[in-house]
Amino acid sequence: MHREDFAMLQGSDLVYFDNGATTLKPKCVVSDMMDYYTKHTSNIHRGDYDFAILTNKLYDDTRDVVCKFINCNSSKEVVFTGGATMSINMVVFGYMRNHLKKGDEVLLTKSEHASNVLPWIKLSEEIGIVIKYMDLDSNYTLSVASVLKSISDKTKVISIAHVTNVVGDVRDIEAIGKICKDAGILFNVDGAQSVPHMKVDFIKSNIDFLSFSGHKMGGPTGVGVLVGKEKLLNEMEPLCYGGGMNQSFEGDSSYELKKAPLKFEAGTPPIAEVIGLRRAILYLMDIGMDKIHEHEISLKKYLVKELENIPNIVLYNKDSESGILAFNIEGVFAQDSSVYLNHYNICVRAGNHCAKMLKDYIGIKNTVRVSMYLYNTINDIDRLVEVLKNSQDIFKVVL
Ligand code: ALA
Repeated sequence: MHREDFAMLQGSDLVYFDNGATTLKPKCVVSDMMDYYTKHTSNIHRGDYDFAILTNKLYDDTRDVVCKFINCNSSKEVVFTGGATMSINMVVFGYMRNHLKKGDEVLLTKSEHASNVLPWIKLSEEIGIVIKYMDLDSNYTLSVASVLKSISDKTKVISIAHVTNVVGDVRDIEAIGKICKDAGILFNVDGAQSVPHMKVDFIKSNIDFLSFSGHKMGGPTGVGVLVGKEKLLNEMEPLCYGGGMNQSFEGDSSYELKKAPLKFEAGTPPIAEVIGLRRAILYLMDIGMDKIHEHEISLKKYLVKELENIPNIVLYNKDSESGILAFNIEGVFAQDSSVYLNHYNICVRAGNHCAKMLKDYIGIKNTVRVSMYLYNTINDIDRLVEVLKNSQDIFKVVL
C-alpha cells in the first residue's frame, strides 16, 4: 500500500523487511521537517514572532494528535522523549525508584527487549526490588493464565511489551490491564512494536505508562513518547533539569517545577522531530490502523504458507498475529543469511534482536527476522521466497 509515498521505494528494487528496527519515512514527514528547517526554524515557547508561533502551534498540536491516536485522557498525559528506551528509563528511574521498595515484585518475561529489562535490573541492584519472569507458552507467547499464575501479593508492577520484537507475540493487554487494575498493580507497556502497527487504546487497556518511538512508525529518529496517567506523571520525578521545565527558582536553592508534561521536557526539545512525528501519526490515522494491521497479517500468512514449502527453512513464530516472522535457513548462521539476502537487495535483521534471554526458550541465539509494514507487498514476499528457495548457493555468495 501507498508505496508512492516513500522516496526510498521509488525507482529501486529494494525489499525492506527491517521495519521492527526502523521504518521508511513518507515524503509528507520529510516535507514537514524540511519546512521547519527552511521556513520556520525557531525555538518553542519562547519567541513572539509569527513563525515561532507557528512552530509552537505544531509542537503543541502534536500532543493532541498523540492523545487522539492513542486515546488517553488529555494531552497533559503526553510527554515527548528521545524514544521508547528513554521513556521506559524515565518510568523506572523517575517513578518506580521512588515508589517501590525492597522485596516488591516486578513481573517481566524473557522475551522483553533489553530496554524493558536492564532498567529493572539496575533498579533491583539499587533498591532490592525482585524481578520475576512470567512463563511463556510453547510458542513463546504470554497467556493471561500465566500472568494470573505469576501474581502474588508482593507484585507491584507488570511491565511487558504489547508486541514482542522477535516473535511478534501480541499480548492481550486489555485483559492484563484489567487484572492489573483490579489488583492495584501498575501496568507499564512497551508499545514500540505495537503502536506503529495496530490500534492501541490507553484508556481501554487500563495502561499506567505507555512508551513508543517515532522512528518505528514513519516518523524521525530522536523522538518518542511516554503516555502516563496524569496523576502518576505529576508524582514522577524528572531525570533532567533545566530551562522550560521550571516555574521559578531562587538563589536560596528553592525552585518550583512545572506540571507534567512540561516538567519532563527540559532544554530545547527535538522540535523538528516532534513536528515530523505529528505528520507521521496523521498519515497513519489517515490510512487507518486496522487497515495497516490487517494488511500485515495477510502478508504474514502468505509468507508463512510460502516458506513452509521450503524444506530447509525453520520457522519460529508462524502463528503470532503481527507482521513479524523469525526464521533460519537450516545449518546457516543467521547473519550469513542476512548478508546473503542483502545481495538481492532484501533487508532483514539477523541476530538476537536485543532480546537476549529469549534463547532460553527458543534454544537458539540468533534468528533472521522479517518485520513488515504498510508498504510491503506480495511481490516483496515472492522475491524473498524465490531467493530462499535457491539458497543452496548461499556460501558462494556470502564467502
Ligand atoms: N528494537 C529494534 C529491533 O527490534 C531496534 O530491531
